[in-house]
Amino acid sequence: MSPYVTLRKSGRGFLGRCPFHDDRSPSFTVYPDTWSFHCFGCGADGSGFDFVMRQEGLSFGEALRKLAAQAGVVLPERSTDPTAKERRNRLEALTEAAAAYFRDQLLAPAGERARQYLAERGIERRTIEEFGIGYAPAGWDSLLRYLGGLGYTPAEIVTAGLAIEREPRERLYDRFRNRVVIPIRNREGKPIAFGARALAPDDQPKYLNSPETPLFSKGSTLFALDLAARAIQQADQAIIVEGYFDAISAHQAGERNVVAQLGTALTDRQVRQLVRLTKRIVLALDADAAGREATLRGLEVVQSAAEEAVAPVVDWRGVVRFTAASDVDLRVIALPVGKDPDEVFRREPGRWRALVAEARPVVEHLFAAVLEGVDPADPAAAARAARLLLPAIRQVPDAIARAGYIQRLAGALGVDPRILLAQQAPPRPVLRGTAPPPAPAPIKFSPERTREHYALALLARFPALDPGAVGLTAELFEGVAERRLFENRTADDETLGELKVRIATFPLHGVTEENAEQALREVAAKLRDRYHRRNILGGAAAAEAPDQLAMAGDEAGRLLSVWKAREQRGER
Ligand code: UTP
Ligand code: MN
Repeated sequence: MSPYVTLRKSGRGFLGRCPFHDDRSPSFTVYPDTWSFHCFGCGADGSGFDFVMRQEGLSFGEALRKLAAQAGVVLPERSTDPTAKERRNRLEALTEAAAAYFRDQLLAPAGERARQYLAERGIERRTIEEFGIGYAPAGWDSLLRYLGGLGYTPAEIVTAGLAIEREPRERLYDRFRNRVVIPIRNREGKPIAFGARALAPDDQPKYLNSPETPLFSKGSTLFALDLAARAIQQADQAIIVEGYFDAISAHQAGERNVVAQLGTALTDRQVRQLVRLTKRIVLALDADAAGREATLRGLEVVQSAAEEAVAPVVDWRGVVRFTAASDVDLRVIALPVGKDPDEVFRREPGRWRALVAEARPVVEHLFAAVLEGVDPADPAAAARAARLLLPAIRQVPDAIARAGYIQRLAGALGVDPRILLAQQAPPRPVLRGTAPPPAPAPIKFSPERTREHYALALLARFPALDPGAVGLTAELFEGVAERRLFENRTADDETLGELKVRIATFPLHGVTEENAEQALREVAAKLRDRYHRRNILGGAAAAEAPDQLAMAGDEAGRLLSVWKAREQRGER
């Protein structure tokens, strides 16, 4: 414990200031004979393992390995196959060698453009060093030749995700070429993968990432967690941003409790790592209209992770229930529209703290997101807002808080709260003589589909939009049903009923006749990015498949019955 706490001899043990609370007079006692500690101030106690786990936010296994390494103890490997371990060691060394090569190239004459790019983005020298940022040269096989010279085989380089084999037995080439390369590191700070940014704005895709490898699983890695873990514990708060440079700029600005997710929806495995360090988690995600939907989707995951729920499928009603009942304080930062954290740090760094301080609890965020732009004078819009929010309010366990939310919703929509309360009541029994409505078949959709749905919703609600004008074409839709709906937007395709419900009820906050085309252009660009990432890059494609997360069947069923009811009333 001595690397962490200054201790002096006292009786049977040692005494020092407790690292777990604000300790003025030394009350932290260490007993070397039993290898344990106890704090008379805050009551913390446990073994040396507990200390390291708590101090570093590690699991038992991680603490064990760390302490063993410090003590020079060789732990028996779980795997009995010595070559598996050996293969893994070589892969780690290879990845480290690649990171070193990229770092060198950034400083070499070939790295001139990349250095300039980083300078233009305001990335300082010390930040480049701290994050180990590098440059992958423009040639086709410079890394391959370098690693080959170190004795690594082409197969190993492919396994590490650093080279691509277009055809079996064809020539290999470097995955990352002429890009700024950002190492993705594990908790111990070892590089396990890379994210590589194009230098030119029209270079597609903007980011190219390592595929899944034996060392790297995108869904369980958070970028910059190695640098942020300590600060997260100290601040007792973790902030999750979306992009690499959002996290890099945050750290450069001294905001060190920031990590980034890696381009896909947040996964429970990512969140689980944070919950070990803090119960206060803030999501600072993209503010564009599609991003807003993604923000809500990000919330779904946090709840399942923190709850260690068996079912990974939850919706944000569940999050409300969960955050209200658990000790995880989950908040959402509403970033200024059109800005990401990187821009906040560059243009008005002083604003970050204020944005974090203003982060709203999930329910509040939900209220704001749903009510934004709802005109109480438009009965259909008010009804839609109520339909979205009431199920969430229903999950708030505290009756008084629940009543407060009802009041607020009533006020915002300009209706009598009693009407909303009546809607809260259980559904009336079915009239005699009428058959009960058939149970709606659950539909599933993943966050991957969200952008496609957003694009389709824009086209449905603003019929004057011309997809061709913004480069939105059928092949950009990966979902089979989505693509069909795009191609037959006006035809009446019965089999697409469920999807149409989803599209018809998709929230389009803040989108107006004036900015609809811009919104469509932006989402088209994102879909194109993805398309290039998957299809132009051949081998890279499969490995980029994101974590799939289906939405709750009951939510879908609810949407479906709304749709059916409307159809029966002849509204469609
Ligand atoms: P954004 O498109 O929001 O970009 O992607 P950004 O982070 O603001 O990028 P800069 O500032 O223009 O450099 C957010 C994150 O999504 C992933 C990356 O992790 C990126 O940081 N992404 C994005 C990809 O993996 N591939 C892409 O082509 C685009
Ligand atoms: Mn950015």
